[in-house]
Amino acid sequence: MSDWFTLRWADGAVELLDQRRLPAEETYLTLHNVEDVARAIEDLAVRGAPAIGCAAALGVALAAAGSPADKPEGVRIDCLAAIERLARTRPTAVNLFWALGRMREVLEHACGAEGADADAVRAELVQQACALVDEDVAICRALGAAGVELVPDGARILTHCNAGALATAGWGTALGVVRSAVAAGRRVEVLADETRPFLQGARLTAWELARDDIPVTVITDNMAGHLIARGEVDLVLVGADRIARNGDVANKIGTYTVALLAREHAVPFYVAAPLSTIDLETPDGAAIPIEERGPAEVTHIGGQLVMPEGVPVRHPAFDVTPAALVSAIVTERGIARAPYASSLQVLFDTA
Ligand code: MRU
Repeated sequence: MSDWFTLRWADGAVELLDQRRLPAEETYLTLHNVEDVARAIEDLAVRGAPAIGCAAALGVALAAAGSPADKPEGVRIDCLAAIERLARTRPTAVNLFWALGRMREVLEHACGAEGADADAVRAELVQQACALVDEDVAICRALGAAGVELVPDGARILTHCNAGALATAGWGTALGVVRSAVAAGRRVEVLADETRPFLQGARLTAWELARDDIPVTVITDNMAGHLIARGEVDLVLVGADRIARNGDVANKIGTYTVALLAREHAVPFYVAAPLSTIDLETPDGAAIPIEERGPAEVTHIGGQLVMPEGVPVRHPAFDVTPAALVSAIVTERGIARAPYASSLQVLFDTA
């Protein structure tokens, strides 16, 4: 058992580890209303596709629990406003919309139940949000177990961004596969891209793997090509924010570059993600909304301005790796390979 957690429901509030302060400080935020949760998502206090979905579900639970309404319809109106606010936080990770959709279904069902009363609706929403968080850990563990066969003993694994326990309710997706491989007795070494501009690799991946005594070495993003070309990487393993129906993968900016390097040097490029990250409604990567964030994360490192003031910067937070560069997609229901349009659908059809 680790001695830290990503997020949880506690005594009518949401507690989450403030990822902006890692690794220097392990500080937990206590959030009491939906606006607090929305800002925590926008400001990256909580980040990573599955964790964003879990935080949003807990945000809806907060709105329900804090609703002063004495009739189910009043709770419903407060929860719908919360869902609308949370849906405006970040556009790329589809897990956000998946989790909000699920909470909305629970809400409509609870409000429409025979003899529904406001307290029962409140209780149901809190219970279902907590269930969604617990389920996320179980899904990551199943996904991790499914991916072990892709990790040979002694593997040197390159990862980008943080797709670990910090990006989920626990265990992780790409790092969940790493954890499961280690638990199965495989020796591994992880190379973590630092992942400019927000440094999820250097700050978060390195922190959580070091905490678990899993060997990790940080490199700057521009070192990956050199090390791959020298044969120092056996496989690439990353997470995803949204996978389109055709298998195109949106993930942290820089992932596409790594995928191209992997293809050039015949290194397998694997994506690990739960089914809630796969968006069958989106036909291909061109249709995935890519978040553009403000300039501060690019212009500053650790609060320090690192370029001339006033020079414009760009900050697309994600890129799209075409399905043709993806060797396999690991999910909680098994591994999909090209052609993804059919193999992903099969996973959804498998009960
Ligand atoms: O901007 P972030 O930190 O939310 O981006 C996170 C990523 O890109 C992760 O790789 C992705 O969400 C997978 S998390 C299991």
